[in-house]
Amino acid sequence: MSVASDQMEESVEHKQHVVNHNHTAHHLKQYFFPTEHVPRLSASDPLASQLIAEEKPVVLTDTNLCDTALKWDLDYLAQHMGSERYMVFLSNNHKFKYYDEAKIKQYKTNFVPPTRRVDLTFPEFVKKLREWKPGDERVYLQQGLNNTVGQAIVMDFLQFNWQWLNMQQKNNNWGPLTSNLLLVGMEGNVTPVHYDEQQNFFSQLVGYKRCILFAPEHYERLYPYPVYHPHDRQSQVDFDDPDMEKFPGLKHLQGMEAVVGPGDVLYIPMYWWHQIESLPHLGNTVSVNFWYKVRNSNNNLP
Ligand code: SIN
Ligand code: FE
Repeated sequence: MSVASDQMEESVEHKQHVVNHNHTAHHLKQYFFPTEHVPRLSASDPLASQLIAEEKPVVLTDTNLCDTALKWDLDYLAQHMGSERYMVFLSNNHKFKYYDEAKIKQYKTNFVPPTRRVDLTFPEFVKKLREWKPGDERVYLQQGLNNTVGQAIVMDFLQFNWQWLNMQQKNNNWGPLTSNLLLVGMEGNVTPVHYDEQQNFFSQLVGYKRCILFAPEHYERLYPYPVYHPHDRQSQVDFDDPDMEKFPGLKHLQGMEAVVGPGDVLYIPMYWWHQIESLPHLGNTVSVNFWYKVRNSNNNLP
């Protein structure tokens, strides 16, 4: 058997493993903290609505939110994204830790960004991704869906299940939808643990992502950087090499996790810590975020 078909077989096996076990994670890398499963429910299940109302995470299996985007693989996007340049991050390892470019200027101490930002056309990005070999910089495209994207993408976008989204927004008294971020990543890419200040419907389109979440009650146990630091909202803890002495609260950390695949929507409540990993061996990943501001937010952390 050729190497290629061996690899293919391995990848199919992994995929079935993920699907057959109802997206549980027992074959995945074990971290130093215990996790429970995020409930996986039909969007029509009253418990799903209840969890969203209570700001608890849930994976919704049948929202039909982005059905028209399930075909957004690399070929489709390369053909239809348009000729603009899009935001791509380059990393020397598997981690893509976010930093606030505006805060770098104010931050007095020397700050070395852990990733490099470049603007590439979609075909340039795809070339880098397809030609990647171990030792090369990894790539992760993270681009807001705005008016630079091509007509076909706009048409798909207009056919998203806005009825369901608008109903969620209304029922939960959320503020406006502020942005949609398109994320196109390589298998093995990791967005390290952080929290966001908006509600998020995280819609998985292509490939599989492991999503690890922690309730806001774990705020102190994840040791966020100071607010003025470029890594504001990120944890100082490296899950691959946790310093239990420096960060003793880690001993009491307890999480939740889910593997999401095409068609799944994960609700990531505001202020919930999350680490998102494109699973190894299962191909590239494509996701779209729907971020909502919160109305009358007092903006105090719990
Ligand atoms: C990711 O999918 O890699 C990150 C998404 C997020 O943190 O909201
Ligand atoms: Fe996030």
